[in-house]
Amino acid sequence: MKLFVTGGAGFIGSNFIRYWLSAHPDDVVMNIDLLTYAGNLENLHDVAQNPRYAFVRADVADASAMKTHMAGADVVVHFAAESHVDRSIMDAAPFMRTNVLGTQVMLDTARSLGVQTYIQVSTDEVFGDLPPDPQKKFSEVSPFAPSSPYAASKAAGDHLAHAYFRTYGFPAIVTHCGNNVGPYQFPEKFIPLAIVNALAGKKIPVYGDGLQSRSWIHVDDHVRALDAVIMRGRAGETYVIGGEEKTNRDILHAILRLLGKGDDLISFVEDRPGHDRRYAINDEKIRNELGWRPQYSHAEALEKTVAWYRGHSKWLQHVMDASYQEYYTRQYGARAVAGNR
Ligand SMILES: NC(=O)c1ccc[n+]([C@@H]2O[C@H](COP(=O)([O-])OP(=O)(O)OC[C@H]3O[C@@H](n4cnc5c(N)ncnc54)[C@H](O)[C@@H]3O)[C@@H](O)[C@H]2O)c1
Repeated sequence: MKLFVTGGAGFIGSNFIRYWLSAHPDDVVMNIDLLTYAGNLENLHDVAQNPRYAFVRADVADASAMKTHMAGADVVVHFAAESHVDRSIMDAAPFMRTNVLGTQVMLDTARSLGVQTYIQVSTDEVFGDLPPDPQKKFSEVSPFAPSSPYAASKAAGDHLAHAYFRTYGFPAIVTHCGNNVGPYQFPEKFIPLAIVNALAGKKIPVYGDGLQSRSWIHVDDHVRALDAVIMRGRAGETYVIGGEEKTNRDILHAILRLLGKGDDLISFVEDRPGHDRRYAINDEKIRNELGWRPQYSHAEALEKTVAWYRGHSKWLQHVMDASYQEYYTRQYGARAVAGNR
């Protein structure tokens, strides 16, 4: 099969590509990424020379580039997005452009080319907030009620994917996963930021009282869930993908323990506007229909991730001093990155 993967230079996309090339030795993968501040080709340095892998720098909202490069693809896996809630609160415009308009371009292109499987990779954040009752969890029938501009933009893209199935019979599948933890995540996000600050002995900012809870999953388990959806999922369906529910405080305490640091590094700061209190996921459908199970407990996922960041100081250094943005020029000899959008 030929896979057309968008956003493959980001956190989950790069883990997905590495996994797919190894788990599916007959398949080829094309990675399309605009290389915004969140795109880092060093995430894929070990597969860059693989003859079954190709990279093209392009914008998912560019219809002509998508048409050129998607031709011949059997499967489209659409990860590319503006993905940071805090940035969406400061400026929603890039989120609308990439997550809504970009998704519409992807759907139109894939439909016109007769793509057989299209995966819209989305988040549980589209469902909004849950009450504290532990019995209440998100599932495939939960209504969308996004709280942040990020979540609203993802929900819009997901609605489009469903509408293309209903209107045109286009074989789109939407997945909603909880929060991912794992290697190669840009350290503006909660867990890598906490690890990086703790390693440097710096304060770790935590919103509000830190008791917001999320469903956490190792990125490898998310990637394996996507494999199950691609291979056995049904067109037009939704699958939610979950992990273990933990509060931000639980996670920080665990990270600090793993690094041998004290809780005095925790610094509570003013809460994020519109901050959802609780997400939790009932993922029985993907377990029962597709036979997927997570392989890592949350404790294992966190331990592996902390160890990875500790062991990859060069990767981290290149992210911190922004030299990761020169990788494209070194590797592909073209003009430098288009700046921090
Ligand atoms: N991180 C999570 O915990 C999580 C959980 C559930 C779902 N998701 C979803 O998974 C997807 C990937 O998330 P991530 O955490 O890997 O994000 P990320 O920010 O690490 O990566 C996003 C990638 O998309 C690229 N990109 C951005 N705009 C683009 C454009 N216009 N054209 C082409 N490429 C563009 C960036 O350069 C980057 O490489 C997103 O759609 C996100 O909504 C993330």
